[in-house]
Amino acid sequence: MIRLGVNVDHVATVRQARGVDYPDPLEAALAAERGGAGGITVHLREDRRHIQDHDVLRIRDGIATKLNLEMAATSAMVAFACQLRPADVCIVPEKREEVTTEGGLAVAGRESALAPLIARLREAGIAVSLFIEPDPREIDAASAVGATAVELHTGAYANARGQAETARELEALRSGATHAARRGLIVNGGHGLTLANVAAIAALAEMEELNIGHSIVARALFVGIEAATREMLEACRDARRSGQPR
Ligand code: PXP
Repeated sequence: MIRLGVNVDHVATVRQARGVDYPDPLEAALAAERGGAGGITVHLREDRRHIQDHDVLRIRDGIATKLNLEMAATSAMVAFACQLRPADVCIVPEKREEVTTEGGLAVAGRESALAPLIARLREAGIAVSLFIEPDPREIDAASAVGATAVELHTGAYANARGQAETARELEALRSGATHAARRGLIVNGGHGLTLANVAAIAALAEMEELNIGHSIVARALFVGIEAATREMLEACRDARRSGQPR
């Protein structure tokens, strides 16, 4: 059964906008779990623009499912993660100026820098996913550096305009998912997914987990986090059951 990881970063975005102590990302995480989330995802960015260190600790200790920590490939973040010991780490590229994570991580060509960081995380008992474009070279490199999983970047699919472009991006994800699974990698996906576009991705049989944040938090303004999570999970499960988008 496909798993939904709910990213609660943007609950912290609302809090940080005012410099107050509400809304609480842990409370959001617990509501997401009540709605059926199989995991909670947070991105501890270098600039700490939304999630703070104390949020990560409280969420790790407070949730019943698993924590997926998104982070940059730096020694400081690896040290933080090895102390925290979340179930999963997802290594993402990070640029200070970006509004959100823009492209996939460049793994090919950076194997010698990434492999020791991944080894340290795995030695600490953490499953390591790499957030990459669905490019066979990057998938092969992810396998070579010892990743447990890949999270295929669905942003280009989500931003595609028109049927032809959407079909091309979906095909890249479909063949990337197959390629990664053949390499023995766990296959996850995420970025830019909404109720309107999630079905085609959830229908891909290799996808084990989708990590979705912005659209769930946005929808939660009207229906609450628990219901927004449940709606998204049902959309994913319906698509997976029928093997095709609704
Ligand atoms: N997966 C990864 C690796 C991400 O960096 C993000 C954004 O933080 C997401 C999933 C969630 O993306 P969105 O907020 O667009 O659903």
